[in-house]
Amino acid sequence: MTDKIKDITIFDYGYDGEGVGKIDNKICFVPYSIIGEQLKIEKISENSNFIRGRIVQFDKTSDLRVLPRCPYFAKCGGCAYQHLNYEEEIFIKKDLFSRQLKKIGYLGDIIVHKSPQDYFYRNKIKLFVKNGTIGLKIRSSNNVIDIDKCLICKNEISEIINKIDLFFKGNKIYDYYDKIEILYKNNIGIIIFYKNRENDVNYQGLILNLQRKINIYEFYDKKIYNVYTNNILNIKNHGLTFEMSPKGFHQVNDDVADDLYNNILNNLYGENILNCYSGGGFLSGLICKQNKKVIAIELGEQEHLEAENLKYQNKLKHLTNLRGDCGKILPDLNLNFDTVIVDPPRSGLDKIVVSSLNKLNYKRLIYVSCDSATLVRDLALLNDFNILNVHLFDMFPRTGEYECMVVLQKK
Ligand SMILES: C[S@@+](CC[C@H](N)C(=O)[O-])C[C@H]1O[C@@H](n2cnc3c(N)ncnc32)[C@H](O)[C@@H]1O
Repeated sequence: MTDKIKDITIFDYGYDGEGVGKIDNKICFVPYSIIGEQLKIEKISENSNFIRGRIVQFDKTSDLRVLPRCPYFAKCGGCAYQHLNYEEEIFIKKDLFSRQLKKIGYLGDIIVHKSPQDYFYRNKIKLFVKNGTIGLKIRSSNNVIDIDKCLICKNEISEIINKIDLFFKGNKIYDYYDKIEILYKNNIGIIIFYKNRENDVNYQGLILNLQRKINIYEFYDKKIYNVYTNNILNIKNHGLTFEMSPKGFHQVNDDVADDLYNNILNNLYGENILNCYSGGGFLSGLICKQNKKVIAIELGEQEHLEAENLKYQNKLKHLTNLRGDCGKILPDLNLNFDTVIVDPPRSGLDKIVVSSLNKLNYKRLIYVSCDSATLVRDLALLNDFNILNVHLFDMFPRTGEYECMVVLQKK
């Protein structure tokens, strides 16, 4: 056995679902391993605190291990749990979240909302174009693994990937592109080609071959350009009509997003609502439909425009969309609210936002997050709240991620 190959027994899971063992008393993270497994691993990296390892041999395999469905699993960095069944994945995610909550003294229930589909649920994918391939990033690397399907995405997305690949191959134009984003919603595909040079590409062949409703955009030099936009993505959902912008933030799992929004609506208190990090305004619209007044704050230009459009299309008189940074707007917002909703990016709340939330006058806080670690960090800094209920929404099955929501009431 070389110095790099070590024996290990897995006894726990880390926050991305990777197995945890010890080598010479130092913690070692081993992706795609299961508690109880005895393995030979190769050290991939090591610092003063921990080691990262890669499985090279199974000496004892867990009974829980199942065959991953995706041929790229463990090579592409997207999924973390395909070697376990979905029930086991949910069990681990809930356990990891409950351990984080325990650190701030919460020992109560976590309401789990599973995804109706653990495969074929994603309405969106970001692909990388490198060395004549279209694919996903290899785990812990900038290299790209060539893929012809992604099993957590809707089937239509995989079909579109294959046809783009054929088009690039036929026209020898892989080098023109760095990234591709594909969104598939309401039977309409949106493709954004991220180009690295300014030159004309005739997409007619691709459009004909796709044989479905499609919009094509190019993104170059920090600007988005319409290339073929005959199929406006007009969404009708929960009594709201709105036009989706190609580059705004949108939840990737439609069923779980509906479940999340319904649970936010069920937990609202009072009539005056502040919706921070409000995205394209869909949630704000749903709240207004319940005859409540909403002030929404969103930094992104595309998201803000989408929210304004939604407001006018649906005649939502009681919606005010403010465009800007919550960290700049909240400290000067001298108003009273009944409920404040925050749904920040993974990094969580800035210190200035936390201190504003501690000063603002309101009764209830609904904190939605896609990173339970920053959520718990921020909750520890908020003063004078009781936790009313806690939810885990499995927005991203098979991956190490999940969405969570904590409802708090001021003491
Ligand atoms: C997780 S998304 C939530 C979107 C929305 N709640 C939804 O469900 O569609 C976070 C949103 O916060 C916005 N954002 C990021 N930083 C911000 C900031 N400092 N102030 C206001 N909005 C911000 C992003 O543009 C994004 O739309």
